Amino acid sequence: MNTQIPKQTIAILGGTGKEGPGLALRWAYAGYPIIIGSRQLEKAQATAKELNERLGFEAATGLENADAARTADFSVLTVVQSAHQPALEGLKDALQGKILVDATARVDFRDPKPPAPPSAARTAQDLLGPGVRVVAAFQNVPAHVLKKNLGQSLDTDVLINADDVEAAKEIIHLAEAAGMRAYYAGGLDNAVVVEGITSLLISINKHYGIKTASIQVTGLVEVEKKEIPV
Ligand SMILES: NC(=O)c1ccc[n+]([C@@H]2O[C@H](COP(=O)([O-])OP(=O)(O)OC[C@H]3O[C@@H](n4cnc5c(N)ncnc54)[C@H](OP(=O)(O)O)[C@@H]3O)[C@@H](O)[C@H]2O)c1
Repeated sequence: MNTQIPKQTIAILGGTGKEGPGLALRWAYAGYPIIIGSRQLEKAQATAKELNERLGFEAATGLENADAARTADFSVLTVVQSAHQPALEGLKDALQGKILVDATARVDFRDPKPPAPPSAARTAQDLLGPGVRVVAAFQNVPAHVLKKNLGQSLDTDVLINADDVEAAKEIIHLAEAAGMRAYYAGGLDNAVVVEGITSLLISINKHYGIKTASIQVTGLVEVEKKEIPV
């Protein structure tokens, strides 16, 4: 008898681009069922097929974004930055009662500068209302890094912001399952700083001719991060 508890389903809204498939691959590899969301069903299904081929097993399906959000336990928003607000407006009903992870970093790769407050995740929370628990995460993790060496841990820390600490804990667990160290870093307003770190990392990459600059939090011992003080 298989006594394993089935893992929760993760929808990647706007999952047909660069960042979404990277996250999807890592969670699929860790055993999570994935729903790729898109504005177009066929595009979602095509990306899901590509991911399954890369994985060598069936982990991903494709749906339109709103159906993906309704079906999944968690949703992760990875639409292009310019579509952040309109996409959320269209998904407001579908996301009620759920956790939404917002990976938006409002930074232009060609001219990296820190974005102004409010954070993208604060904007998302205001727009979606209190019925959706918004968590900001993964803004500093580049797509190309996620897609490599799926079974191995990434040499990066992920800062998790949420007003709801219990929601943050769930996403810390998901980040760890995807091979990243993750730490609670305060409420949604702090996420604007995390978006700004993306600007720093792009600048470091450009200056040193690399693509892999990332962040690490020091001074934490394992036991402290396991139990997030409320
Ligand atoms: N790329 C990275 O390395 C990276 C790293 C960290 C964080 N991020 C963040 O992740 C998010 C996605 O970045 P990306 O590079 O993956 O973006 P992207 O590849 O340019 O676009 C992602 C998806 O956005 C959807 N989209 C485009 N226009 C839309 C619209 N008007 N309404 C709704 N959806 C629309 C498209 O999906 P459909 O056409 O299928 O609907 C597209 O595949 C951004 O917020 C970015 O800041 C990216």
